[in-house]
Amino acid sequence: MKLDSDRIEALPGLLRRLWKPVQRLGRTVAVASGKGGTGKSVLAAALAHRLSRAGLRTVVFDADFGVGNAHILQGLSAGLSVAHVVAGRVELEDVLRPAPTGVFVIPGGSGVPGLGTLSPFQLQLVLRGLAGVEKGADRIVVDGPAGVSDQALLFVGCSDLTVLVTTPDITAMTDAYSWIKVATVRRRESPIALVVNRARSEAQASAVAEKVLGVARRFLGLDIPFLGFVPEDPAVAESVARRRPVPVSHPDSPAAAALEKLADEIESRLEERDPSGGGYAQRLQACVERDAPAPRERESV
Ligand SMILES: Nc1ncnc2c1ncn2[C@@H]1O[C@H](COP(=O)(O)OP(=O)(O)OP(=O)(O)O)[C@@H](O)[C@H]1O
Ligand SMILES: [Mg+2]
Repeated sequence: MKLDSDRIEALPGLLRRLWKPVQRLGRTVAVASGKGGTGKSVLAAALAHRLSRAGLRTVVFDADFGVGNAHILQGLSAGLSVAHVVAGRVELEDVLRPAPTGVFVIPGGSGVPGLGTLSPFQLQLVLRGLAGVEKGADRIVVDGPAGVSDQALLFVGCSDLTVLVTTPDITAMTDAYSWIKVATVRRRESPIALVVNRARSEAQASAVAEKVLGVARRFLGLDIPFLGFVPEDPAVAESVARRRPVPVSHPDSPAAAALEKLADEIESRLEERDPSGGGYAQRLQACVERDAPAPRERESV
């Protein structure tokens, strides 16, 4: 049966009615990187799948509204996205979609150049929607945009935990340090933990982590933990081509084993987080208000 476009538009509304808020005390973990292409989406996809398989209702929130592709790695095709929300066409809850992998996805979509281009009203549409989604989710996995844009620092920096991904590439390492520095200067309080992706060996991964974290210790006085590494593995590119998380398409690969181990480590750190500090949407709101330029003093006439 072929659905006409009106009926396709109506489907998300049905899901919205099924998405029962249960006032859960969820946690949010964000995946970030200084340089693009380090493997954030690969890690976010595997992490979300692992959490969902553990019985946690898990939402992947693609915080890249310019060239978001997190939905692809969960086997979803293009459809409604956050870009439609900021265009005022639908609400965020209407964009939430169940994926064949068991997770729910909020696709980022494409065409929104950055947070700076959103009006305060458009930003509120997203934050209000996230507050609603959060009530029904045990875990939100934010697939963050690369770099230190306002958008990355907001949606990543207000999570319960930031997983910063670098590769052994010198430019990725330099950009990872810059990410840590800017997030600290901008007072993003989400604790950071480092993952090294595409390492040729455990020794190489440890050396990369020590370089990045050693500089952060010396120059910023920060003691950031090294969570672990994912080896360079052809199974990763194959899993992307198959539009599935690595542990789904290549469960016996070295990368899958490493990703699942990392997911368990991330989850144990999330469980340690005290949820009394308010939810993700509440912290996002606080960051937005804190970042807003002070209203100019009215000039006397
Ligand atoms: N461990 C790995 N081994 C081999 N190839 C990898 C590995 N991790 C990632 N890749 C390759 O790198 C590509 C980019 O990964 P991914 O899309 O997760 O990066 P990203 O950080 O999300 O990029 P962007 O910044 O554009 O969002 C993958 O499609 C895959 O081909
Ligand atoms: Mg990505």
